[in-house]
Amino acid sequence: MLILLVAIKDIFMKKSILFTLMLILSPLSAFSQKEIVQGTQWLDTAGNPINAHGGGILYHDGKYYWYGEYKKGETILPDWATWECYRTDVTGVSCYSSPDMLNWTFEGIVLPAVTDDSDHDLHTSKVLERPKVVYNKKTCKFVMWAHVESADYSKAAAGVAVSDSPTGPFKYLGSFRPNDAMSRDQTIFVDDDGKAYQFASSENNATLYINELADDYLRPTGKFTRNFIGESREAPAVFKHDGKYYLLSSGCTGWDPNQAELAVADSIMGEWKTIGDPCTGKDADKTFYAQSTYVQPVYGKKDLVIAMFDRWNKTDLENSRYVWLPLNFDNGKITIPWIEKWSPAVYPDK
Ligand code: GAL
Repeated sequence: MLILLVAIKDIFMKKSILFTLMLILSPLSAFSQKEIVQGTQWLDTAGNPINAHGGGILYHDGKYYWYGEYKKGETILPDWATWECYRTDVTGVSCYSSPDMLNWTFEGIVLPAVTDDSDHDLHTSKVLERPKVVYNKKTCKFVMWAHVESADYSKAAAGVAVSDSPTGPFKYLGSFRPNDAMSRDQTIFVDDDGKAYQFASSENNATLYINELADDYLRPTGKFTRNFIGESREAPAVFKHDGKYYLLSSGCTGWDPNQAELAVADSIMGEWKTIGDPCTGKDADKTFYAQSTYVQPVYGKKDLVIAMFDRWNKTDLENSRYVWLPLNFDNGKITIPWIEKWSPAVYPDK
């Protein structure tokens, strides 16, 4: 009997040692995340810092894809700069995938910079910002729109790329000014009826344009509206809730933080009505020292919608951080309260 007990104990010991070893060696468990901690360095499932700034999310076939500016290397302020146009060389657009908006696997640079043609929009010497990817159900293509710029920010154009897969590679189609108007900070929103719209800071960032896109999402239809005229709104992030459209945006102070603003509309092209600053709590009047970039609902979770912000580090852009906060819905009033750390897992399933 004693021998039998010793043998069983031995098997259990070996199993638990084996299990502990598996935990240590498995890269997934080593770098799996339990919560979102604002402004800290977030690691992907391989243990590397997540590098996806000014980003946006695509939800496709049960997975989230996070696309953003892959800011790598030295941040410089060009000699000729008359304002704080700190930049890194263009490296490309990165993509990370996740089942839960918490654990992110690096899928690579899905739209790389161009190194051998200094005239190309994606040349390392230029600027590439705020990429957003949407899926076109009619063409079965993944369509990326981004702000493509010259190093001195005078180009103010939108670049478009397409892919057959969410993880690329994306084929760059070229750039233009939608409806012949400047296009800087931008996002793309696809409505429930499949129609897509580009929101872009235009007219020297003074006025926000909403450009309706053609059925293939590759170009504007020519129908557009001018919104928040002279109000200098940037960093647009659009979402729909209870049949209304919402637009979260920042003011216009370069890489420095300012106060966020929420606006609402019954119809996507406007008219938009400003509600005010939705942020509450510590440093709310400076958007928690961050700037909006996207708003993403978490599917399968009741009322979990995440507002994504960048906390820019203007003199070391690669080391900019992220602030992701759940929206709070209270009797039709939307706020974004400051929470130092939180987890999507604690939200009840639908
Ligand atoms: C911000 C903008 C960023 C970047 C920066 C350059 O206002 O939101 O995307 O363009 O200016 O200074």
